[in-house]
Amino acid sequence: MSQIVNISQLQNFYASAETPADAADAARVDLRMVFGRSVALAVGECEPDYHPAPQIHASEEITYVARGELWVYVEGTGYLLREGDAIRVPRMKMHWMWNRSGAKCTFYQSNCPPVAGDPAVRQSRSALFDEGEAMPVDYPRVVWLARKYSDEAERRDEAPAEGPLVARAAELKTSVHSGAIGAAASGKLTSKCVHGLEHNMTIATRKGGYHSVPHIHDAEQIHYIVRGDIKIYTPENGFDCREGDFNIVPRNMPHWAHVTSDDENILLQVHTPVLGSAANRKALISPDEHVGPIPTVYNMTPWAAEEIMQVEEKFAGAMRHT
Ligand SMILES: [Fe+2]
Repeated sequence: MSQIVNISQLQNFYASAETPADAADAARVDLRMVFGRSVALAVGECEPDYHPAPQIHASEEITYVARGELWVYVEGTGYLLREGDAIRVPRMKMHWMWNRSGAKCTFYQSNCPPVAGDPAVRQSRSALFDEGEAMPVDYPRVVWLARKYSDEAERRDEAPAEGPLVARAAELKTSVHSGAIGAAASGKLTSKCVHGLEHNMTIATRKGGYHSVPHIHDAEQIHYIVRGDIKIYTPENGFDCREGDFNIVPRNMPHWAHVTSDDENILLQVHTPVLGSAANRKALISPDEHVGPIPTVYNMTPWAAEEIMQVEEKFAGAMRHT
């Protein structure tokens, strides 16, 4: 176990002995998932005709289609997601996927809390915990349901639906970040963000040379490096993150980043509770959910930020990597 792992070092989440392979349609999907105390992040790829059984879990889920097309059914309503679209499945809502496109689909998926109740998953490298770190024991599990629910819904053969749980690529506005990330990084970070009641998923682009000052938020953060390399620092660690790495920043841990090359860097990030620092974040919440104020935290500058940054020199020859 480690706070950094590469996607190639993980196993298919659906290949666990505890998962019924036919319900999960495990032969047609490869989902590589990592998790922390409060949120999980996965990169999945599914084959044409992928069609798992309906499932339900005590965990909010967000899915973003990175490449290809995918149908996602929520409580029997089918939504057709194309590249750049996102959907949220609220806690305890029955849902399933169906790849009707004839081509592979790559998708990003987050869960809050992590669906990591399977002991084999907890003991795997998917756990972004360092040696000696306590891990919660009460994660929810995926509950598989009978195919009759999907059969029933699909027999109606309805056109794909639109609705408040879905964000279309064209309506996801870009946020340009400044403020707590510091003058040298200001304007070099842009993001697109969707969120639910409990967590957000963000795709963040950093220009080459981006170097932020320490910020802190009362939210756990997991990121996946979609493109490029990036150095992520905390007072305790320097992580040399490469493409395909997953890495965690624990709640309330000061952290900052440095893109040492001239190349653009793309990070997929999740936070829980919702991080409110992206001005244009889009809520995927339906009106029938009884929503009060959504717990939201913000990027803040920690005490003695410049002093904290000096550890960069200390870690220079001792960066952690996969
Ligand atoms: Fe952060």
